[in-house]
Amino acid sequence: MNPISIQVNGRGFSRQAEPRMHLGDFLRDELRLTGTHLGCEHGVCGACTVLVNGQPTRSCITFAVACEGQEVTTIEGYDDDAVMQKLRPAFTRHHALQCGFCTPGMLTTARDIVLRLPHADEALVRLELSGNLCRCTGYQGIVDAILDVLQQQRDTPDAEVEKLRQTLSLPRTMALGPVTTPSPAQPPTADPVVAAEMAEVDPIAMAKAKAKGNAIEVHFDVPYPADQVWEFMGDLPAVASCLPGATIDSHEGERVKGTIAIKFGPMSAAFAGAARLERDDAARRAVLRGAGQDSLSKSRTQGDITYRLEALTAGSTRVHVDMIYALQGPLAQFSRSGLVKDFVRRMVADFGKQITRRLGGQTVASNEPQPTVSVAGMMWSVLWSRIRGWFGKSPRP
Ligand code: FES
Ligand code: FES
Repeated sequence: MNPISIQVNGRGFSRQAEPRMHLGDFLRDELRLTGTHLGCEHGVCGACTVLVNGQPTRSCITFAVACEGQEVTTIEGYDDDAVMQKLRPAFTRHHALQCGFCTPGMLTTARDIVLRLPHADEALVRLELSGNLCRCTGYQGIVDAILDVLQQQRDTPDAEVEKLRQTLSLPRTMALGPVTTPSPAQPPTADPVVAAEMAEVDPIAMAKAKAKGNAIEVHFDVPYPADQVWEFMGDLPAVASCLPGATIDSHEGERVKGTIAIKFGPMSAAFAGAARLERDDAARRAVLRGAGQDSLSKSRTQGDITYRLEALTAGSTRVHVDMIYALQGPLAQFSRSGLVKDFVRRMVADFGKQITRRLGGQTVASNEPQPTVSVAGMMWSVLWSRIRGWFGKSPRP
């Protein structure tokens, strides 16, 4: 058993917890806060969503001991919350619940949408809700209730809601999407848990370990000579600035430490870790070996990214990227699907576009925080392209 001290709904609690007890069980069984519902217990349905330090988090794949010293808000903790005071009657008005099992998680995600995306339209609300499943399939009422609250806030702004929007700290949830409100991102090193775990990662040891796991091969083309692309890709901070969700915290020679953040519905993960780049100038081939860990779910990833440049013409280059990665821990279930491979292909394609922009002269500060990769948005685009492929049709305009 491990001792754990935690703030829940503004109250401090000290308890003992098994190392593998997840936060959902801890809240329900130890603190008797049974408003947090557990459905799939695999991080898929969103029923167990709570806030950890203000961030929507799946309590079923978050270890209780990882929340030592953190602030958790459950559905029981919103009595005086300005957004929930609007969402609750809106859910009632729009018949947004049937059995109510998904409702605590839905309300938590709905609150996040109202605060983070003031101009969200129906399509974006549905996209953001895609990480919460309702077994009664009452989505229309839920979407209408959220849109209703968003509209109320636009028509007659509530000062308390605006204050919450302004104070919202979103280090891991700057979702890419058709309508987003950029929010200030803070360096991941501000999170002491993340910073401590980064210090544990030894890039030398990692470099000696041969990566095993899933393999993905992909390429992208850039309209610049191979020499120029090769030189650019040796600049690790510049390359990281082209990768959505990546933030570099320290960089020394061929070694780099940083974080890559993803968001999937109400679940967000930030893999903090270290990587080492080995370059072969003659072959214009390089290997980036790295490993990282998400502080809340304790999921770990390790892998090699090999890239090789092929000069297509004097002024254009193909960048071949081979990834071998392994993911362990609660988030590993998301690595099984072929959808993830498609997702990575999309991410690499976006990476290629950003590199083309940078080579074209658009500058980004070397340590500028990048928006989080919105898995929900990319997943939707991946799914849509698959559906098109199955039916052999082009999308309608
Ligand atoms: S219980 Fe389904 S995501 Fe946690
Ligand atoms: S209202 Fe029944 S699961 Fe959503």
